[in-house]
Amino acid sequence: MSYINKNISAFSNEEKRVLLKQLLSQKVSNQQSCNTPSLKALFCDLLGKNADDIPHEYYNFHLYPEYLKLRQQMQDMEVSGAVNPYFTMHEGLNNDTTIIGDRQLINYSSYNYLGMSGDPVVSQAAKEAIDRFGTSVSASRIASGERPLHRELERELSDFIGTEDCIVYIGGHATNVTTIGHLVGQDDLILHDAFIHNSALEGCKLSGAKRLSFAHNDWQALDEILSNQRHRYKRVLIVIEGVYSMDGDIPNLPKFIEVKKRHKVFLMVDEAHSIGVLGKYGRGIGEHFGIDPTDVDLWMGTLSKSFASCGGYIAGCKALVEYLKYTAPGFVYSVGISPSNAAAALAAIQILKTEPERVTHLYERSKLFLELSRKQGLDTGMSQNTPVVPVIVGNSLHCIQLSQALFKRGINVRPIIYPAVPDKAARLRFFIASTHNEDQIRFTVSTTAEELAKIQASQFTKVSSFID
Ligand SMILES: Cc1ncc(COP(=O)(O)O)c(C=O)c1O
Repeated sequence: MSYINKNISAFSNEEKRVLLKQLLSQKVSNQQSCNTPSLKALFCDLLGKNADDIPHEYYNFHLYPEYLKLRQQMQDMEVSGAVNPYFTMHEGLNNDTTIIGDRQLINYSSYNYLGMSGDPVVSQAAKEAIDRFGTSVSASRIASGERPLHRELERELSDFIGTEDCIVYIGGHATNVTTIGHLVGQDDLILHDAFIHNSALEGCKLSGAKRLSFAHNDWQALDEILSNQRHRYKRVLIVIEGVYSMDGDIPNLPKFIEVKKRHKVFLMVDEAHSIGVLGKYGRGIGEHFGIDPTDVDLWMGTLSKSFASCGGYIAGCKALVEYLKYTAPGFVYSVGISPSNAAAALAAIQILKTEPERVTHLYERSKLFLELSRKQGLDTGMSQNTPVVPVIVGNSLHCIQLSQALFKRGINVRPIIYPAVPDKAARLRFFIASTHNEDQIRFTVSTTAEELAKIQASQFTKVSSFID
């Protein structure tokens, strides 16, 4: 049926229906669709509606209901007198200290775990890469974006982790979305920890696979789901993290591997917060437990935290990496990581190999922070001597107040409040770095305990005067 340059009113109802079906299933070619009536016009015609009847919020972002909801939340925050805790401007390097406005503060808001961002050797490597290759590779690597630095970085990463090969993507978030989204489909099942990161969840949605979560770190619950459901699906992918980013705890990886092997499924571990952090040499949760790296099918990680760059990777067997390099949409249809980012990550890994003491310092500082906090009676949840230490305040407003009080005392730490976590789980999340010194940590913990006690006491006074 040809629709070229034909007015809707000249169509029979049957023709309109066929066209609508084709437009909806996108069977009308691009060239044809330029000359065919738009989907909107056709809908309006079939429903007997005029295009003027379309509500404004369907095509105007100022009236977008989701935007209005966000605006309301922002307004509520302004009315409550709280300072907006988001998009804080850091004027320099984000390390154990940071400059906000004209003040230098002790800083717990960066994932610069090993102090690699700002390290002169890392910065120099990035500058030299710009001088040689420019600031962008300007194309997908599969087309004409491949540079020697990309291959070197992937070799270095796979050697560090202990796998056959590795693929580097432009972002950590993009790595999870495109890899999970691409590897499994509608006949498959994804089973993930209840605390899994948003990037993995987005990948699950994209894949079209059935998705189920199991209770946090509960490999027995996972085992049970697999016993009941494995046979209904072709492929099953389990997704867990090496260190959980909200709680700083570590899953029992050997148990997950045992379950994975028994049920013949794939296991993916997101090492965003465990690579460079766990194990004597910072090789991650695999080194921490002394497992064979080939027992995990997909080692995912980001370059943005321990490795002072921007990007993400999947390390695994050759077949997996080759398949992803030729077919994963976020790799094939996206530019290669920039020369400076590749060089920075490469330099950071090479430094880490020669300076494992950075990992030891990080562990010691994290352990000290946790021990002191517990002694002060602070609720540090499930944290396990990792550089992610939550201090659970249990009330979003108190959490914001505590973060602001600490800010005044020279400490920068971000609040995590409802709806990111339930109100009773509202917390300050301290990210420790190897560059923090003992004095900074001691001062921070005692000041946190002091300020929290003040907030709780003023709350108690308010409640008791109310009861009186
Ligand atoms: C567990 C986890 N996975 C993936 C990502 C995404 O990494 P990136 O920020 O490097 O894109 C993050 C980010 O914080 C994360 O915490």
